[in-house]
Amino acid sequence: MEQMSWKMFIVTKAFLLYLTSCVFKVRVAGKLADVCATCHVNATCDDKMDGSGGKVCNCMYGFLGNGITQCQDKDECQIGAGKICGDHTVCHNTYGSFYCTCLSGYSPSNNLVIFIPNDGTQCNDIDECKVQGICGEGGWCTNMQGDFNCRCQVGYKVQNGSQPFHPHHDKAFCKAINCGQPPSVTYAVQLSEAGTRYGSVAKFGCLEGFFQKHGNNTAVCGEKGVWEGLNLVCEEIDCGEPPALLHSVMIWNKLTKTWSGSGSGERG
Ligand SMILES: *[C@@H]1O[C@H](CO)[C@@H](O)[C@H](O)[C@H]1NC(C)=O
Ligand SMILES: *[C@@H]1O[C@H](CO)[C@@H](O)[C@H](O)[C@H]1NC(C)=O
Ligand SMILES: *[C@@H]1O[C@H](CO)[C@@H](O)[C@H](O)[C@H]1NC(C)=O
Repeated sequence: MEQMSWKMFIVTKAFLLYLTSCVFKVRVAGKLADVCATCHVNATCDDKMDGSGGKVCNCMYGFLGNGITQCQDKDECQIGAGKICGDHTVCHNTYGSFYCTCLSGYSPSNNLVIFIPNDGTQCNDIDECKVQGICGEGGWCTNMQGDFNCRCQVGYKVQNGSQPFHPHHDKAFCKAINCGQPPSVTYAVQLSEAGTRYGSVAKFGCLEGFFQKHGNNTAVCGEKGVWEGLNLVCEEIDCGEPPALLHSVMIWNKLTKTWSGSGSGERG
């Protein structure tokens, strides 16, 4: 009798233990499911690394946080474009990732618009001056790191701005220097056809019956856009009264100027 009750006790105890373990297992299973259900949308539910069979929420690649309430995009660009993408770059953060582009004035050596670090891509200076006419007519292009600028060539003058200028940002442009028609000189004629552009030369000669009293007979179209140097003064040739000779009679037409200039100045 006593033997029986002892056996019963053991069986009952074992049964109870079994029940308890079952309940525990159910609870654990419930807890497992719960863990995964609590994971953030940008997290994955992974096996615990400690071999306990437990589960854990891990933020996905490129996200930082506890995996449950927080998986924030990690701003990889925060440490600086130069450090992460290289020289002359711009770093662009995206959800869960990032990419690199070159600063304006630089082009990526992979010839694509974007690149990722360590793929061997470099940002190289673009020689904008290779583009014909980038500075416009009469412009002189100078390439610089990441940029360029323009000055005017000899014979051209900057308009609506100052030098150096940037044709993309400034209104300035180069215009050919033009002096217009050469000036006229009293009692003189222009000896040769001259242009009107910078460096053009116009020479003058006094009219017949006139002589070059003083001054410069050459006009040069200068960089200010005006004719320079010319200050020729032509004067009518006038011999005055002929000298009187002793013991002689003078037959004189009373003219003192050259034959052609007898009209005294009418040709001016
Ligand atoms: C999860 O990531 C996606 C982009 O991958 C993003 O659009 C979304 O807003 C994120 N969700 C939350 C709750 O942060
Ligand atoms: C240059 O500027 C003047 C006024 O300052 C303006 O009238 C003219 O249109 C400008 N020229 C060009 C080509 O922009
Ligand atoms: C006359 O003026 C021009 C323009 O300034 C100059 O180049 C030239 O040397 C001058 N000639 C003389 C003889 O002075």
